[in-house]
Amino acid sequence: MITIKSEREIELMRQAGMLVSLMHKFIKPYIKAGITTKELDKLCEDFIISHDAVPTEKGYEGYPASICASVNDTVVHGIPNNYKLKDGDIITIDVVIGYKGYQGDAAWTYAVGSIDDDKKYLMEHTEKALYEGINMVRPGNRIGDISNAVYEYATKHHLGVVRELCGHGIGSQMHEDPDVPNFGNKGTGPLLKEGMCICIEPMLTFGERYVYMMDDDWTIKTDDGSPAAHYEHTVLVTKDGYEILTPRLED
Ligand code: MF3
Ligand code: CO
Repeated sequence: MITIKSEREIELMRQAGMLVSLMHKFIKPYIKAGITTKELDKLCEDFIISHDAVPTEKGYEGYPASICASVNDTVVHGIPNNYKLKDGDIITIDVVIGYKGYQGDAAWTYAVGSIDDDKKYLMEHTEKALYEGINMVRPGNRIGDISNAVYEYATKHHLGVVRELCGHGIGSQMHEDPDVPNFGNKGTGPLLKEGMCICIEPMLTFGERYVYMMDDDWTIKTDDGSPAAHYEHTVLVTKDGYEILTPRLED
């Protein structure tokens, strides 16, 4: 079932989304060579809790941390650990924050120090693929219009589109209907209506699109070891378009 949010619920979704934006802004200056992903997780968790909010990922189907921290060839669901970031890495921080019963969800990929041109290209075009998808959000369009826009942009830029994972509806639950795949046909899938909230989240690779899951049953990596990037926003369908509920805040 796809939920339509009331004005009151939309306001709470905005507040949850703003906390996600503030947390990303908070953590960015810490993303430097030498810090461990576990230390980043602790900083994020403390930030969330000190804002009277809930780190929704922690305990979700047994997930052990408050953020996903996915480095280089890890596509998603990297569990924070004792790995020390090093110059030239890229890391995706993906977080879901609950506030007064509503959820915000956003991921971005960050550079650690100076990164090579391949990683720069991957990051730039993964973020742009997300905005291509977001641009299709308006009442009357369908989920397939978003999926197709993301896919066309990514493949035009020779990036691999991971198919095993997709975006999703969001509200009082972090995962609601509908699925929002990163590939598909225009004009197909559920119809977008004012008051729906969805997460659009391209996961793109610099090499082949194929991935595998590690023995921890969470970490998803690229088969060929190529780097992956992941950008995600929580988006509200408005009367004539969209509102990004997890805006990127200026430094
Ligand atoms: N934030 C992820 C998403 O975009 C979900 C994380 S799975 C969890 O859907 F286990 F880490 F919570
Ligand atoms: Co999501």
